[in-house]
Amino acid sequence: MKNGIQVAIDGPASAGKSTVAKLVAKRFKYVYCDTGAMYRVVTLAALEKGIAPDDTDQISRLAQQISISFAPGDPEQQVFLDGREVTTAIRQAEIDQNVSAVAAIPAVRREMTNQQRTIASQGGIVMDGRDIGTTVLPDAPVKIFMVATAYERARRRYVENKAKGIATASLADLQKEIELRDQKDSSRKVSPLVQAPDAVRLDTTDLTIDQVVDRISVIIKKTLNEL
Ligand code: DC
Repeated sequence: MKNGIQVAIDGPASAGKSTVAKLVAKRFKYVYCDTGAMYRVVTLAALEKGIAPDDTDQISRLAQQISISFAPGDPEQQVFLDGREVTTAIRQAEIDQNVSAVAAIPAVRREMTNQQRTIASQGGIVMDGRDIGTTVLPDAPVKIFMVATAYERARRRYVENKAKGIATASLADLQKEIELRDQKDSSRKVSPLVQAPDAVRLDTTDLTIDQVVDRISVIIKKTLNEL
């Protein structure tokens, strides 16, 4: 691909995927796509319309009707729902609590997967999520599966919430919520969170962000040299 390769980064909630994926994309001048944000936008749209998270028919229709888009922003990429900026709105606790149910709806996943494949089709992309290496981009030449302990992930989310000024639950409650979300994301029928057989597993519990970015960069460079 003349614009660069596809890099798939998967793993459980708060393993540091988006922070790292953004920095990797910057280093290689690739586009970054946060697929979790797309499921969050569908969830926000449903809640705003008063649709219950288990009303699969209405949410499936809604996922096809709304427009989800991204724009570069510093420090955060901006996210839009039908042209309205929702970057902060999709990080509310209410979305955290309902997004797993929405992401488990097969028709919602089909729609998001199609949109994600279109975004990635030109190459030069770093895409993070849960099913990128297994389902969305099964032929991606670089696949990373990032993990960290639930405690460490809760701690990172806590620090991040505080820094962003988002009202945060206690560390213990965040850990419980993360464990519950892991369980839901790993046990759903369609595209569960599972490591692709050809993905490189990276435990980031004791690594700094820079160390993780360096390790992934080495893998990308090696792959580019082999192509
Ligand atoms: O990474 P995140 O916390 O923003 O993801 C939000 C939710 O979306 C999470 O519960 C799992 C789901 N998700 C998914 O099912 N598939 C993806 N490719 C990305 C996220």
